[in-house]
Amino acid sequence: MSDATALLDAARTARLHAHAPFSHFLVGAALESADGDIITGCNVENATYGLTICAERVAMFKAFSEGLRQFTRLAVVADTAVPTPPCGACRQILWELGGDLEIILGNLTAETGRYRLRELFPLPFDARLLTPP
Ligand code: THU
Repeated sequence: MSDATALLDAARTARLHAHAPFSHFLVGAALESADGDIITGCNVENATYGLTICAERVAMFKAFSEGLRQFTRLAVVADTAVPTPPCGACRQILWELGGDLEIILGNLTAETGRYRLRELFPLPFDARLLTPP
């Protein structure tokens, strides 16, 4: 199993930037590119609630906006004993833009779970289905 210490630590640092005045649930994410770059994200909430963006999507959109397209792993950190996995909306975005990422879950002190995205999102709707056979 690969060492995810640096990626989890990057997610922990990003979590400190979370803007979560409504839920007070701070989340950090760290996405690793195929070249080994680390792009981080945190959740950014909004008074309408529905316009809130999760840490995972912030990290992925930041990476895309910087021209990155190939990714290997994503770490997600929250201050919870049980793992905090990506929400359904994030699973869709991560699958379409990142493919079958390794998803590493953690809290402030430990790694709490490791999955492939296809395990968390086993029957995706994606661009393949828009292409006629
Ligand atoms: N949240 C994330 O950023 N990522 C997750 O994986 C779960 C949920 C955020 C959204 C919202 O700001 C807060 O956590 C509570 O749902």
